Amino acid sequence: MSSDHVRYLLALESSCDETAAAVIDRDRRVLSNVVASQFELHRDFGGVVPEIASRAHVRRVLPVIQESLRQAELDLSDIGAVAVATQPGLVGSLLVGLTAAKTLALVLDVPLIAVNHIEAHIYACRMAANCEVFPAIGFVVSGGHTNLYDCTGPVDFELLGSTIDDAAGEAFDKVAQILDVGFPGGPAIQALAATGNPKAIRFPRTFLKEDRLEFSFSGLKTAVLYTVTGVPNSGREPEPLTDQRKADIAASFQAAVVDVLVAKCRQALEQRQRSTLCVGGGVAANQPLREKLETMCRHTRTQLHVAPMSLCTDNAAMAAIAWESLERGRTAGLDLDVTPGLVRAGRPR
Ligand code: KG4
Ligand code: ZN
Repeated sequence: MSSDHVRYLLALESSCDETAAAVIDRDRRVLSNVVASQFELHRDFGGVVPEIASRAHVRRVLPVIQESLRQAELDLSDIGAVAVATQPGLVGSLLVGLTAAKTLALVLDVPLIAVNHIEAHIYACRMAANCEVFPAIGFVVSGGHTNLYDCTGPVDFELLGSTIDDAAGEAFDKVAQILDVGFPGGPAIQALAATGNPKAIRFPRTFLKEDRLEFSFSGLKTAVLYTVTGVPNSGREPEPLTDQRKADIAASFQAAVVDVLVAKCRQALEQRQRSTLCVGGGVAANQPLREKLETMCRHTRTQLHVAPMSLCTDNAAMAAIAWESLERGRTAGLDLDVTPGLVRAGRPR
């Protein structure tokens, strides 16, 4: 069935700890972008607790949808298609969004579209650029993922490499926990690092000089821990954790992460001979990372598109990628299911 008559798409996002809904029109204009964050529910645990997240999604999904329609000044009857993030993410969280989306698609008798959350993070760059950005190297750097893709088109992505342990954002969150500066850790570490010396401590930069497009941050996290607590059985006391020492650790940690992220983007660009880089995900909000990416791209004559702040962290507006699927006739049936894990290659739909 042609989708030409569809004017407004309602998109839902509940893959982790944000309940989000957005209304996007055919020209990719975002008419509303509502995000209900759960960070206060998970703060005391220093990370997202899946069971708490699912329950909060159940409570919030309908008010968030209603608010997205209100802000877009539309009724449900105006909605011509429903999109939902079905992968990857927490299974319970994903299921809440999927159930809401299926119900709406069934009741409204409109197409249902599956969205890959990671691809949507990259598509946020296309939305901001408002012009063709592909082919490009796509980089999603968030709390759950550190993935490099070769993107030949808006919905044709090949995974080039990812983290073999912690994601970059996860490392920020864990180091923030070690330094006791709050959750989510990224913004807290960035703020603390602003007064620190990034060269104070030489932390490890795993795989920096290797060709492989993979990441590893668990060694770095352990190095930070031992810097704070002292190396077990070493007989050496750690330096006192003054405010300045904390800031130096944060700045040195951040510098190590940023160095690796930028180097791997450069390697991916070289290996695939691409001249465009699209970066999305929560960690793309990091200011030093944005600055270093800009410098690297200037030197390598690469066109850089970083998702705007409002589309970096989890949101449903980036699910505007569903328009690309809809226009290609890639809709889903009501038997659509969630895929919590990362699909490494090929198109899962
Ligand atoms: O994309 P996102 O909202 O959720 C996931 O899909 O994971 O990313 C959240 C992650 C968290 O780990 C958070 O600490 C990190 O993004 N983050 C940052 C910054 N803002 C958010 N990391 C570094 N610097 C920031 N300014
Ligand atoms: Zn995300």
